Amino acid sequence: MSETFRAAWQRALYGPDGFYRRERPSAHFRTSVHASADFGHAIARLAGLVGLDQVVDIGAGSGELGKVLRTEGLQVLDIELDDELPERLTGLVIANEWLDNVPCEVVEWDEDGVPHYLSADLTPGDVVEGNDLDWLQMWWPGEPGDRAEVGTTRDAAWQDVVRRLTDGAVAIAIDYGHVNSTRPPYGTLTGFRSGQECAPEPDGTCDITAHVALDSLGGTIVSQRDALRALGLSATRPPLELAQTDPMRYLSELSSAGEAAELLDPSGLGAFGWVWTATGAETVRRASRALSA
Ligand SMILES: C[S@@+](CC[C@H](N)C(=O)[O-])C[C@H]1O[C@@H](n2cnc3c(N)ncnc32)[C@H](O)[C@@H]1O
Repeated sequence: MSETFRAAWQRALYGPDGFYRRERPSAHFRTSVHASADFGHAIARLAGLVGLDQVVDIGAGSGELGKVLRTEGLQVLDIELDDELPERLTGLVIANEWLDNVPCEVVEWDEDGVPHYLSADLTPGDVVEGNDLDWLQMWWPGEPGDRAEVGTTRDAAWQDVVRRLTDGAVAIAIDYGHVNSTRPPYGTLTGFRSGQECAPEPDGTCDITAHVALDSLGGTIVSQRDALRALGLSATRPPLELAQTDPMRYLSELSSAGEAAELLDPSGLGAFGWVWTATGAETVRRASRALSA
């Protein structure tokens, strides 16, 4: 069997010369933590509402989120490629745009409706079987000519986080994704290089990503727009009179409103899903109240 796209993707991002061994995410794409410190302030507010004072940031990149959270007095543990995930996770666990970078199999259905794994050059190879086939049948049934990204590796990565949660902890995977009713028929596999979308060449020169099947992760899904609004973020512009009475404050509030608008944009970052899981009845209740509009 030739190397599947997942294996090539794994090597291209995380192998010895892999993209993430050399590159800083912010040089190639913009996440919510790059868009505004208000994203971090909202996470800090969530931690406060749930009664947690520690945050674990999985796939922390250059640690931008942690920098904001520490200014709010939270203890932060950044987890990156060479770090071991602690056996027990306490506090609030955040994984912002991590799972979309967990390599997964890419498959295509042939003219008889049989799904095949795609190889490193995106040509069809072996017939899909086992857990991957079960997953497709349950979460992403396709038709001849369709393409899909199999969520088994993302589900396993997230379940490995959730099983480590101690009583009273909360874990949230934040990512772009889809659910059963919104699966894209040709998948979403793509690349990013220096801020531009590009072909997903598994050669280590670009980021490779695919949207996450949010519903198969397990947990409660809320859109980023709803979650951040529930946490008090608002894109309302300051009143124009403030420009006369306090121009500096007006400019600062205008700039915050612009950043909030980017985080809440229903066709951009606001459409991201927050998939959350909490342990312990009281924590579930608090998280549910904090994240509900
Ligand atoms: C798209 S970046 C997101 C960075 C940051 N969370 C942000 O929002 O800007 C994904 C990050 O996940 C990291 N990553 C991927 N697999 C990982 C793993 N198994 N353990 C820890 N970090 C991982 C990558 O190195 C990369 O920095």
